[in-house]
Amino acid sequence: MKILLFGKNGQVGWELNRSLQPQGEVIALEYDVADFSKPESLREIVQSIKPDVIVNAAAYTAVDKAEEEESLALTINTVAPGVLAEEALKIKALLIHYSTDYIFDGTKKGPYDETDAPNPINAYGRTKLEGEQVIQSSGCDYLIFRTSWVYASRAHNFLLTILKLAKEREELSIVADQIGSPTSARLIAETTALCLQQALREKQKGVFSSDLYHLTTSANTSWHGFTKEIVDVTSKTLDQHLKIKDIKAIPTTDYPTPASRPMNSQLRCTKLENTFDVKMPDWKIALELCIEELA
Ligand SMILES: NC(=O)c1ccc[n+]([C@@H]2O[C@H](COP(=O)([O-])OP(=O)(O)OC[C@H]3O[C@@H](n4cnc5c(N)ncnc54)[C@H](OP(=O)(O)O)[C@@H]3O)[C@@H](O)[C@H]2O)c1
Repeated sequence: MKILLFGKNGQVGWELNRSLQPQGEVIALEYDVADFSKPESLREIVQSIKPDVIVNAAAYTAVDKAEEEESLALTINTVAPGVLAEEALKIKALLIHYSTDYIFDGTKKGPYDETDAPNPINAYGRTKLEGEQVIQSSGCDYLIFRTSWVYASRAHNFLLTILKLAKEREELSIVADQIGSPTSARLIAETTALCLQQALREKQKGVFSSDLYHLTTSANTSWHGFTKEIVDVTSKTLDQHLKIKDIKAIPTTDYPTPASRPMNSQLRCTKLENTFDVKMPDWKIALELCIEELA
């Protein structure tokens, strides 16, 4: 079994490079050899390796910068995955790809289902939605996992930014009216590995069906609630002095950003849980495990 992994140094890619190891030979590539801004160059890479599975964790993820660089974001998030899908079809490989809560506008009351109509409100979301669509219409075997609010014990993310700021400042003001489910890269990778095992068994039996699933932790919070929990758990778990005393809750309107964010990012994961017989943990449990790892 050959697994070709793109984006191995990203949050999710780094964890995938570990979680996928028991499933076969993992050929993990980064930017220097697989540049998604040159999508045509990916054809030769796929055809020279001829993997059984392609896992795409590479993406243009700079949400605010994408407002100015939509064309580059589109190349990386739509055109390149489209090329991977075409090449996967030629060699009958399974393509695993990730998408985002930002394909929704956030106006729904309650969690989004896979059947809810997408309506992205920023450039990044538009390019990720088109990435889903190009894979879905390619005819290749695929699994697309939409996830949200990703963090990890390494790379750049909200958790590590808050930990840094909490050591430097006594007061922080954090948005409290955007709701979502913080999801650790490790959980995404481990769940992907479980789903992949089942998908491969189904492919062998000729009963596999390509589909798109929501994959996040369960329950939800705001960025403010997430921050409070990060600080609480860190104070109990890590032997580090935090300067922070006050975490103020502010509305989105007090923290303007170039890209609009959905106010409601909750994704219902029932379809994933039922199809793959998995149970997505509460976001607080996944956060504790990640902070314990930092310790
Ligand atoms: N981060 C989130 O909150 C979030 C939320 C929902 C969904 N997602 C989705 O989850 C997936 C994984 O995200 P992540 O958080 O792991 O992202 P990440 O940490 O930003 O990693 C993305 C990876 O893509 C690589 N990359 C960027 N431009 C590239 C290019 N032109 N050619 C090749 N590689 C390139 C990056 O390399 P460098 O590090 O060298 O730039 C990095 O290794 C993505 O599909 C993302 O859209 C993420």
